[in-house]
Amino acid sequence: MHEADWDRAQPAGLGAFGLDRRGFAGAGLAAFTLALLGREVAAAAPQKRMAARDWIERQGELARALKGGQIAPLQWMAEAERLAGEIEVAELMAEVGRSQITQQALPPTNDPRKSSIRFLDAEGAPRKLGYGAALFAFEPHNVITPHGHRHMVSSHLVVEGAFRVRNFDRLEDEEGAMIIRPTRDYIAAIGQLSAMTPDRDNIHWFVPSGGKAMTFDVIISGIDPGEADYDIEAIDPLGGTMLADGKIRAPKIGFEAASDKYTAAV
Ligand SMILES: [Fe+2]
Repeated sequence: MHEADWDRAQPAGLGAFGLDRRGFAGAGLAAFTLALLGREVAAAAPQKRMAARDWIERQGELARALKGGQIAPLQWMAEAERLAGEIEVAELMAEVGRSQITQQALPPTNDPRKSSIRFLDAEGAPRKLGYGAALFAFEPHNVITPHGHRHMVSSHLVVEGAFRVRNFDRLEDEEGAMIIRPTRDYIAAIGQLSAMTPDRDNIHWFVPSGGKAMTFDVIISGIDPGEADYDIEAIDPLGGTMLADGKIRAPKIGFEAASDKYTAAV
């Protein structure tokens, strides 16, 4: 697969970030009206944002509903995308700063450094939320190489810098390969969310776009009762074979080989 094939990938729409066109137009009209009314009125405009603690709890409600089978992965995804529009990144990061942060050792690959987050309640005890929270801190050269997942969903909110995000749907599995189709190729800036589920955008690939960058991740594993908690496999879409209908047969590869090939320059 060549770089030119990325033209087939669809950029994420406004809907992916919780902004439909009507809402977007409405927000513009509201801003215009407030501008006419003067700066004092604009300054008094109500905040629609959620408090960070409520937002963190809402993520837990969604995780429990997903694992309990009350909502499907695509419903979780839609709500995770909508919630991304409800939080001020600075406020979320202030709450993260009050949490228990455990920095993990740097991996042998070119991956970013992961820090696990445990949010604390008013008494300082870890909150039981039903999902894993983590920060992934990218140096400019770090890359999360293309990989697919099973038995889990995750969302990745940009909290510093920006990323080139590429997604694929995972259509089928074959011996040693995945049959995939490119779905998105876009730049995600601070406040934008990228999510993956078994049904949509299951494969993701994150490259910092000009400098250091960081994501805040919500990870929900064990969504398929009786199965493993999760399964993650690296693939090589650029070394894949183009098939009909824009599909690609992408070989599975080891994470270290993926890290050698998928540098920040790719
Ligand atoms: Fe992943």
